[in-house]
Amino acid sequence: MEKFIIANWKSYINLDQAVSILDSIKNPNNLIIAPSSPHLSYLCKNYPKINFAAQNLSSLSSDYGAFTGEDVASTLKDLGIFFSIIGHSERRSSDLDNAASIKEKLRITSKERINPIFCIGESLDQRKSKQYKPAIEAELESLLPEIENHLENNLTFIIAYEPFWSIGTGLVPTQEEIKEMAEIIKTKVNFVDKKIFLVYGGSVNDDNAKEILAIDNIDGLLIGGASTDEKKLNSIIDLI
Ligand code: PGA
Repeated sequence: MEKFIIANWKSYINLDQAVSILDSIKNPNNLIIAPSSPHLSYLCKNYPKINFAAQNLSSLSSDYGAFTGEDVASTLKDLGIFFSIIGHSERRSSDLDNAASIKEKLRITSKERINPIFCIGESLDQRKSKQYKPAIEAELESLLPEIENHLENNLTFIIAYEPFWSIGTGLVPTQEEIKEMAEIIKTKVNFVDKKIFLVYGGSVNDDNAKEILAIDNIDGLLIGGASTDEKKLNSIIDLI
């Protein structure tokens, strides 16, 4: 089974640092890099062998138009970008993304043939009160038509399971907890023989990547902080 590494650089690094990391990468297979959007144009032009993802795309329109400050799908496709993170928890928590905008973004990615990296995960309260299973199942249930549209269009649909309480905190669920959630998610989106993959994200680093990659139903990793360190990123890439 192929495994993916997705690097989410958020707004962590400047262009020189981004260039230095990309220069160090020897094996770009099954690697997707999501730089900050002002860097995308330069990086796409200079690193044609790397798959890039947008960290977000506009829900207002898929096409060019009067949308100040938005990155519409057409401008991403101009750069040859065919992946986009959708619904990252850092956007959900500041209400830049919500159920309605996420649904609309997934409608757009399906129509525009962009492969989504759709982030989903429970809050600490949901985990402590044992509400994580129904919460995740309900959100996936509400998006099943959108997921199915991507698969029918022969797109790759990547789900990133990212417990909110684990992102950037150094707190990582146990292997059993990740395994349980991976099974819940894969059971809910049970489209046989389709291109649907599940990656784990949340405080992944070069010390824990190997054991997380080995968990049943985990097809890869979405890495934030550690992916901005070229040594750490390369040693994780070497695992796949
Ligand atoms: P982290 O971020 O690896 O720094 O926890 C993961 C993410 O935000 O996708």
